[in-house]
Amino acid sequence: MNDHDYKEYISEETLMGPSCVRILKELLETHPLQLSREDMVLDLGCGKGLTSLVIARETGAKVYANDLWISAQENSARFESWGMENRIVPVCEDANELHFEKGQFRALLSVDAYHYFAGKKGFFEQKILPYLKSGAEVLIGVPGIKDGYAGRSEELLAAWLGSEACMFKSPKEWKEIIGRHERLDCAETWEMACFDDAWNEWLAMDQEYARGDLVHYETIIKPYTCLVGIHVRLK
Ligand SMILES: C[S@@+](CC[C@H](N)C(=O)[O-])C[C@H]1O[C@@H](n2cnc3c(N)ncnc32)[C@H](O)[C@@H]1O
Repeated sequence: MNDHDYKEYISEETLMGPSCVRILKELLETHPLQLSREDMVLDLGCGKGLTSLVIARETGAKVYANDLWISAQENSARFESWGMENRIVPVCEDANELHFEKGQFRALLSVDAYHYFAGKKGFFEQKILPYLKSGAEVLIGVPGIKDGYAGRSEELLAAWLGSEACMFKSPKEWKEIIGRHERLDCAETWEMACFDDAWNEWLAMDQEYARGDLVHYETIIKPYTCLVGIHVRLK
């Protein structure tokens, strides 16, 4: 994947945190997906849909772009302006109450969103697994806390994140949260290598939230946090 292909789509409007394009590049390069045009992929928590664009172009599959805060109408207009209206389907639903067909998806991807709704044991098994086909692949990238500081998110991150600090889990904690299930072939988590690039691209934005993050970058974000990669393959 060449991240330069997406430069023209990255803007103050579409970027919502550490660069989702860098995060997807690492996820897709470490775990390449073999998908066809007929396959369906769920982009869970797609935000403004930049992730959905990358997934659709890099995999060739049809992408269901689901988000809670951004309306389907808003994303629909963006996908049309990108000429992707036939390849990306906008959906606005809470990840806790999805209404897709059972066994619909060959893959699920989620960038910088999964921590908002999936931090409890049982979520993956109850809310995600039913929608995945046998042999499906799951690739997730979320901000988290380094393993060395696991369990200390509220103490170390509250000055930056307030009550959302508890959502930041470490790679080992995420592996436990995904849990075990007879349908899982493998599940692994890791500290992503793209941390510096992803954050630098975001902090360079002339954007209110990026400026807020910049204040805490050297003292909190860089020393204590990481980006957690999660890969799950089904039998
Ligand atoms: C920081 S944005 C990331 C968006 C996009 N994936 C990206 O990387 O640019 C987090 C997204 O998670 C979505 N989200 C939060 N809670 C959700 C929920 N319960 N169900 C679906 N989406 C949710 C929000 O709507 C928001 O757009």
